[in-house]
Amino acid sequence: MEEKRLLGDFVEKSKSRQRRTKHWLIFPLVVLLGVLTIKNRLKTCPSPPNSEYLQYEGESISWERCGNLEGIPVECSRIDVPMDQFNQNNPEDKTFSIPIIRMRGQNATQNILLNPGGPGGSGISLIYHGGPQLKTLIGEGFHLVSFDPRGVNSSTPQISCYPDVATRQRLSPVRSRNIEADSPEVFAWTQNYVKTCIDTVGEHLGYVNTPQVAADMNSILDALGQKDMFYYGFSYGTIIGQTYAAMFPERSRRIIIDGVANNFEWYGEGFEGASSLVNTDAVLDGFFDECIKAGQEYCSLARLVDSKEELNDLVMSKLEELQQQPLSIYIDNTSYGLLTYDDIWYNGFFIALYSPKKWAGLAKDIYNLILGNATDSFLAYSSGAQEWSVDDTNSVVELNDGLLTGPGYWPQDRQSILDHMLLLFNASMFDAWQDKIFYQRQQWTLPKTHSFTPPKTVKTAHPILIMSTTYDPVCPIIAAHAANEAFEGSQIVEAKGYGHCTVVVPSVCVSKHLRAYLYEGKLPDGYTKCEGDSPYFTNPEKGSSYVAQKVFDNSDDREIHLAQMELALNWEFRAPHLT
Ligand SMILES: *[C@@H]1O[C@H](CO)[C@@H](O)[C@H](O)[C@H]1NC(C)=O
Ligand SMILES: *[C@@H]1O[C@H](CO)[C@@H](O)[C@H](O)[C@H]1NC(C)=O
Ligand SMILES: *[C@@H]1O[C@H](CO)[C@@H](O)[C@H](O)[C@H]1NC(C)=O
Ligand SMILES: *[C@@H]1O[C@H](CO)[C@@H](O)[C@H](O)[C@H]1NC(C)=O
Ligand SMILES: *[C@@H]1O[C@H](CO)[C@@H](O)[C@H](O)[C@H]1NC(C)=O
Repeated sequence: MEEKRLLGDFVEKSKSRQRRTKHWLIFPLVVLLGVLTIKNRLKTCPSPPNSEYLQYEGESISWERCGNLEGIPVECSRIDVPMDQFNQNNPEDKTFSIPIIRMRGQNATQNILLNPGGPGGSGISLIYHGGPQLKTLIGEGFHLVSFDPRGVNSSTPQISCYPDVATRQRLSPVRSRNIEADSPEVFAWTQNYVKTCIDTVGEHLGYVNTPQVAADMNSILDALGQKDMFYYGFSYGTIIGQTYAAMFPERSRRIIIDGVANNFEWYGEGFEGASSLVNTDAVLDGFFDECIKAGQEYCSLARLVDSKEELNDLVMSKLEELQQQPLSIYIDNTSYGLLTYDDIWYNGFFIALYSPKKWAGLAKDIYNLILGNATDSFLAYSSGAQEWSVDDTNSVVELNDGLLTGPGYWPQDRQSILDHMLLLFNASMFDAWQDKIFYQRQQWTLPKTHSFTPPKTVKTAHPILIMSTTYDPVCPIIAAHAANEAFEGSQIVEAKGYGHCTVVVPSVCVSKHLRAYLYEGKLPDGYTKCEGDSPYFTNPEKGSSYVAQKVFDNSDDREIHLAQMELALNWEFRAPHLT
């Protein structure tokens, strides 16, 4: 049977990959209002010691080899950009240094810039950990270029509010998971946070915002000798994309935004109605529903109950137990601690909502937890198992972007901001997760250095392409509609399914629209829905990671499908550090 043969082929491939898993590194990438990690089965090679500089006609920068991904060479460079792109008198010694990475396309004459989200996501990491798969999606006609935006990770100066890692680990934790109970502490903690950011970072702090990043992308393009912007941004990367397209419409030749955040709310308009979590609970419901539909062979939890309602009740009652009494887990004298309700709810469930390929694993962990073995849950979801972010751009960019931050806008007492949140937080059971940033908005004293407000109507050089899943836990599809209204001639391609950004819903149909747009400038005629090509639950015990989930007649389609599966499985997200 055709399908069996396919399975055989790809199981082989996935086995050889799994042998390499020892070398995986988990890099924190940041995603809209949360932190994203991409785990990948790739090992990056260090660049050879005497690597030569590479130069290309028309470009004003030179490159060095900086690795090799699945046989594809990668090259790196850096540019300096003015600290303030919008001030003609910016002193020459005040700059950010932006690292750039590129994976060359065989038939390419143009570069496409990518951003993974955040704020705070590292584009360098994106290429190292998803570059070959993204290349398969985009094709050989483009050079894939990404960069660490100003302040992020290996750009310099790095925007960290703590002088060193040890200080960060000692002083950054604050409990903010219960809106009312944690309020006094978060309110007080935030006062120090704002002071230490301003003290530690200095003058550069004020210039870490999205309009500056948009201008930096032009600096990159200029260095590459390219006039037209080709851009693909995910999650917060859609804020960069929308900002760029609004500020530089004449250069916006191809702009793709995927997993769209509401640009108007981001910059402060209609902020009172902050709507990013309006579909979150629908995704949770989808988890229960799809688990029961998948059945017990694929979803462990389906062994315990027969309906999604029963499953919901079962999980909620287990969580309630944990809320009353956290569990203590002892593995050995170096590995032990508590497993709390917050751990399971935010690091387990909430993060899994971003990427359905994690659902089978979550179901298995929760199944074991309910049956009395909490070890795997502890190892995966306890606060000690979460990674530390390396910089503070995740909050700093949001604070510097939003026009409605600081004492001029918010009453300065704790009760007012708490009352505001209590009124506002009614969209989702995961609402409390946003509360820290509200105190930061209230107390952020740094003056705004930009005056960008998103225009209601933008005519770009070529219409933009908007992509979304049906139910996105943090960037609901209503934000895609808002972008659709603002950008003339734009179209939406919806990947039918759950999760954050279309990359988590493998769909060859989506990739065909992506290619038609990139290569021929073709947008679909109207609002377009694409079916996903893979089930939500694939049996983890059967090692089906890279197995084709569908038979494709066309070998290009099959290759794209496998790349999508790989991206979907490895595109992982993580909440901001809690405790
Ligand atoms: C490159 O372009 C040529 C001519 O258009 C085409 O025949 C070839 O298949 C392309 N190669 C790749 C790898 O896309
Ligand atoms: C951040 O940069 C350092 C090198 O400066 C690198 O080792 C690390 O992997 C990067 N982290 C991410 C998330 O990209
Ligand atoms: C930790 O426990 C192991 C036994 O599992 C013991 O051999 C070791 O000495 C202990 N470490 C310390 C620092 O006491
Ligand atoms: C609990 O689960 C862990 C990890 O799967 C396993 O190693 C351990 O043996 C289990 N403990 C019991 C008591 O079954
Ligand atoms: C949530 O609160 C907002 C603002 O007070 C209100 O407009 C909206 O109707 C509320 N939504 C629900 C579902 O209660």
